[in-house]
Amino acid sequence: MAEVRKIAVLGAGNIGGTLAQRVAEADLAREVVLIDIVDGLPQGKALDIQESAPILGFSCRVSGSTSLDALAGADIVVETAGLARKPGMSRSDLLGKNAEILRGHARAVREQAPGAVVLVVTNPVDVMAYWFRRVSGLPAQRVFGESGTLDTARFRWFVAEALGVAPRDVVGFVLGTHGDTMVPVLSLTSVNGVPVPKLLAEAELRAIVDRTRAGGAEIVNLLKSGSAYYAPSASQAELLRAVVHDEHRLLSVTTALDGPYGYRDLYLGVPARIGRGGVESVYEVDLTPGERAALDASAAAVKADLALLAALPAP
Ligand code: LAC
Repeated sequence: MAEVRKIAVLGAGNIGGTLAQRVAEADLAREVVLIDIVDGLPQGKALDIQESAPILGFSCRVSGSTSLDALAGADIVVETAGLARKPGMSRSDLLGKNAEILRGHARAVREQAPGAVVLVVTNPVDVMAYWFRRVSGLPAQRVFGESGTLDTARFRWFVAEALGVAPRDVVGFVLGTHGDTMVPVLSLTSVNGVPVPKLLAEAELRAIVDRTRAGGAEIVNLLKSGSAYYAPSASQAELLRAVVHDEHRLLSVTTALDGPYGYRDLYLGVPARIGRGGVESVYEVDLTPGERAALDASAAAVKADLALLAALPAP
């Protein structure tokens, strides 16, 4: 199992910067490089993080660059670049511009780091992960997207808050797209095995599901400029840890589906086993008829967004 020596983070915005900090502080690699087109931003954030090493005790080397050549030899690439939402925008509104940004990055990864595992974060993430894989030509197992891990964290927190239990004791899954039609799966949600639908009233559960679906927008509306990055970078770091340490975690990610759940030729959030090679396998879980219908609606929403890619020049 090849050691992860280098993690490259494309985009040195709030997510990229916070993620680089989490990677360095956890010594997830020997080296993390932040890459951005804005000269000074990746270098400045990298140096700032690096200077905390004597206090925090990590050995990871942190650097910044404006050149895509800095991807060279990366074992893991995290794609965070692109525009973020402003209040009133949906993630799909970002599609055309972000696809163009990712086109150049995916080509550079193919040239500079063809063996990398790629975690896509840029929104609309289900479409961007699909697009990144298509442009890069990398195997589908090695290109997946963070979606459900973040939505599941929000969902778990809202359940924990309502019940007054430790957040880490709430387990569950949010599946489907990282968008308004995401599917918090109540039938799989428990407090260490105690089913949550038995612990909370129907109306409370409904409110938690609705709040989870609008979780990203809630933060966008509060911040007024920019979107969330603390919980997103925590969820990305959880996924990176699973790859770096070959943990075989069962987590909700947006991944290529060609058969599972009856879907073909799309990326959608499903439970997947994550290890050093990326997505090792996809789990098909039992859903209630209502949850299954919601997942179908979610898949249809992603398909509609994927159709918008057809308007762009070919990869
Ligand atoms: C969110 C953005 C990052 O859900 O998609 O906060």
